[in-house]
Amino acid sequence: MGLHVGIIMDGNGRWAQARGLMRTQGHLEGLKAAKQVVKTAASGMGIDFLTLYVFSTENWKRTAEEVGFIMGLVRQYLKAEFAFASENHIRVRHAGDLSRLPPDVAGDIADVCRDTESFAGMQVILALNYGGRDEIVRAVNKALASASASVSGKEIKINETIIAGHLDNPDIPDPDLIIRTAGEYRTSNFLLWEAAYAEYYISDKLWPDWTGADLVEAIESFQKRERRFGGVNSASCEAGVSL
Ligand code: FPP
Repeated sequence: MGLHVGIIMDGNGRWAQARGLMRTQGHLEGLKAAKQVVKTAASGMGIDFLTLYVFSTENWKRTAEEVGFIMGLVRQYLKAEFAFASENHIRVRHAGDLSRLPPDVAGDIADVCRDTESFAGMQVILALNYGGRDEIVRAVNKALASASASVSGKEIKINETIIAGHLDNPDIPDPDLIIRTAGEYRTSNFLLWEAAYAEYYISDKLWPDWTGADLVEAIESFQKRERRFGGVNSASCEAGVSL
């Protein structure tokens, strides 16, 4: 199985500000960077899943103009990149609460998810109106609803398997690597449950300046790391050292 990489695409606003441009111009350039990075990720570098943090549950606090612009970019992206997705068998999926998105955006997302459902290549997951805490709360509520429908009067105990099974995309493996751009060291509510053992890679570059080469560099850095998943590595085991 290939890698699951998540990207927190940060710094569009700062990119625009540094040039005396509107924030929306930064998002437009950010979209171009996203298209390029998706193409590199799909070029056979061992990435099976790419989750892009497009819009968080907190991003509604921005001005209506900026929110509307980002939603428009999403629709534009889905339309413009459909041919590329088809040619490359890319399956597009969504993470987040679709029910609270503007109906036209939610409709376009549902359509592209349906139309690419059978594609067996890389999966691109658009995290849109996504929040990690919100996803966990919705997962617990889904679990409780299905449990109370099946076992009335019995005490219901939540466990990790139950929560994991009710997340937005329960079949998608946990991310191996989370990339954040623009030099910020925060999770910002991205894949809180799923990223329990993810490696983090912080890039100082602002998102609009990112290219496919930056993704290659991030993957190479990740491949040099040793992951222990809370255990010990084999070398230190042999040496009798527990970490
Ligand atoms: C973060 O920069 C960026 C966003 C919240 C929007 C992300 C949207 C895109 C990259 C375009 C759409 C992409 C796809 C794939 C449809 P920021 O505005 O938080 O930057 P700042 O921290 O410098 O202000």
